[in-house]
Amino acid sequence: MRAVFRASALMAVILLAACGSDPAPEPTEQIVVRESGKDAAAPASADETADSLVAAGKAAFNTCVACHVVKQGGPNRIGPNLYGVIGRAAASVDGFKYSDAMASSGIIWTKEELDSYLANPAAKVPGTTMMAGAITDAGRREAIIAYIEDASAN
Ligand code: HEC
Repeated sequence: MRAVFRASALMAVILLAACGSDPAPEPTEQIVVRESGKDAAAPASADETADSLVAAGKAAFNTCVACHVVKQGGPNRIGPNLYGVIGRAAASVDGFKYSDAMASSGIIWTKEELDSYLANPAAKVPGTTMMAGAITDAGRREAIIAYIEDASAN
């Protein structure tokens, strides 16, 4: 993947160099061609940025694993399996006993709804039985949601 990225970055350099009519000053200065290896300086592509967000989310999900898995066909623990939760209706995992509050919430778990639930579960769904603290850091919530999405694609 890295090799492919380097090749496409080189292509971009070549394309920019070939684009003689572009008046922008020294456009090639913005191209970052990274050496191979693991020096993760500035994220160099959208893909790599997404990868590091997912990695951060996986680490942050440590606060959820006592109660949740994100696994196709995986078990419910204290909380329901979160596999594929994005886009589905709240309280729709078979065999999990939800609170009445969650069951009647009418929520569809878009990323925005997940974000506000994680920011303050008890405020979003008064009476929820999810005893997890509010995640006040928006970046952390974004990373966790990116991880859930990624883990649900496998
Ligand atoms: C102490 C256990 C516990 C922890 C920790 C916990 N949860 Fe939960 N979670 C639950 C329970 C229990 C429910 C069901 C709530 C209800 O029915 O009101 C739930 C419900 C949910 C739901 C709704 C699922 C559905 O099918 O509608 C989401 C999304 C969720 N949790 C995400 C998370 C995330 C992300 C974390 C970590 C940041 C987390 N939870 C941490 C216990 C927990």
